[in-house]
Amino acid sequence: MNSPTRYAEALLTGMLGTFGLNIEYVRAERNSLYYLDETGAEVPVLDLVGGWGSLMLGHNHPEIVAHAKKLLDTGSPVHSQFSEHPVADRVGEVLNGIIGREFPGAEPYPVIFANSGAEAVEAAVKHCEFDRALRLKSLFEQIEWNVDVAVKAVADGSARLPDDTSLLPGDVPVPTTAEEFGALLGAVATHNVGLVGTSPVFFALERAFHGKLLGSTQFTFNPTFRAAFTSLGLPVTFVPPNDAAALESALAEHRPAALDVEVVDGRVTLVERPFPVIGGLIVEPIQGEGGIHALTPEYAARVRKICDAAGCPVIVDEIQTGMGRTGKFFASAHIGLLADYYLLGKSLGGGIGKTSAMLVRQSRYRPEFELVHSSTFAKDGFTTSVALRTLELLEAEDGAAYDLAAERGERVLGVLRDLAAEYPDVVLDVRGKGLLIGLEFADQSQASSPVIREKAAAGLLVFLIGSYLQLVHRIRTGPTASVPNMLRIEPSIHLTDEEIEQLRTGLTDVCRILRHQDALPLIHP
Ligand code: F0G
Repeated sequence: MNSPTRYAEALLTGMLGTFGLNIEYVRAERNSLYYLDETGAEVPVLDLVGGWGSLMLGHNHPEIVAHAKKLLDTGSPVHSQFSEHPVADRVGEVLNGIIGREFPGAEPYPVIFANSGAEAVEAAVKHCEFDRALRLKSLFEQIEWNVDVAVKAVADGSARLPDDTSLLPGDVPVPTTAEEFGALLGAVATHNVGLVGTSPVFFALERAFHGKLLGSTQFTFNPTFRAAFTSLGLPVTFVPPNDAAALESALAEHRPAALDVEVVDGRVTLVERPFPVIGGLIVEPIQGEGGIHALTPEYAARVRKICDAAGCPVIVDEIQTGMGRTGKFFASAHIGLLADYYLLGKSLGGGIGKTSAMLVRQSRYRPEFELVHSSTFAKDGFTTSVALRTLELLEAEDGAAYDLAAERGERVLGVLRDLAAEYPDVVLDVRGKGLLIGLEFADQSQASSPVIREKAAAGLLVFLIGSYLQLVHRIRTGPTASVPNMLRIEPSIHLTDEEIEQLRTGLTDVCRILRHQDALPLIHP
């Protein structure tokens, strides 16, 4: 089964081994992963983690597999960079149709493809900065033009010299000669050039998860993933979710002004221009890894207003929540949060491919970005076509898949709520929407059972529970790194009633064990 020498993440695999979770799966279908027992027989395990959300349609969906096979069998080009890509356009068209349906009246959103969620996050951040740099450039061009106009107006006597220099820092005297006016313009230029080095400021929410690459990990709140790499990334300001006032005041701290001149009533006058330093705000409509916490519609409405007023683009990270997982294609549609950027990943690859997408609102889109951003594998022919087939399956029959996600999700949530009602001492909370669900166990760090207590204190209780569910009930659930007592459940839309009952049976056992502090089955499953 497992070879004794490991080269690929030996530490991690070893840690999984201490919980009996280092199982090699040999086959996957629908909601099941299969391993082989000692006799070589396949043993199914109900997979409720589904690739951390990448399996909306389950493992190896037959129509996606058939489509992939056809692409390969017919020699369809996989790599054909620098050529026409009608399939990628079609993906963009389908996504735009969905945006138009879920956000009536929305502008078109051109799409940039990437390979992973984190990469889409970074493409969006990069696009925000590219846009900011171009806005800065036009601001400086405008100021240069205005200075030129003012100098000429003073020279030909059509404008008088400024009589107020109070906008400039320091005691700059009011100019009385052309020379002093030149010095004043020099001070204006120095002030403006001084602003150029100001780093952009990005905002994210506490508990956020946006990936683990150099850039994106700085937008991920959990210090375990971020702290060691802070010196390599952008400074990100975290604000509490669902607190509009906190966002407003955080944005208000970043309002530097460039100085410009204007000829007003025959006099050269110093004026302030907003200097763009705000990079953007990134949010998940429902925080996934951070513990299944939803943003409210009230907050969404305020975010849009506050960000519009501050010129702050809103990046909505739907990598986990999108593709219909919550009952609508975009979870942000539940709360009416119109984004400047939408990010998709995970299930966009149909469970067999790796792809992601960044959609940018037309009025913010900088087409020149296409000339400075690319990746060897992004928008490849194979994965893009698989993504299109996936979208077609989701959109079929008037989006029946989304209704199914909502209905299956409610059914799972119903089971979990039953348990919470029956075991209020054990289950702290049940949260979720559609098929993005979390069950939070009550703190066990004061438990009477030493095994349960110690594992809880070490933040490892969910691994112990996960191991029990897997080894005894053949159910795979997931942890969230940020909420130590939470089991994460993100199954496919094809979850059956029997599978949901299997989950009920497993979790009922877990609740009984925790209530009776009977750790034996946990250690010797
Ligand atoms: N954004 C969100 C909201 C995510 O949940 C994830 C990944 C990413 C970005 C990064 O995507 O892994 O393809 O680079 N979330 C997984 C999780 C890993 O644990 O929920 P990636």
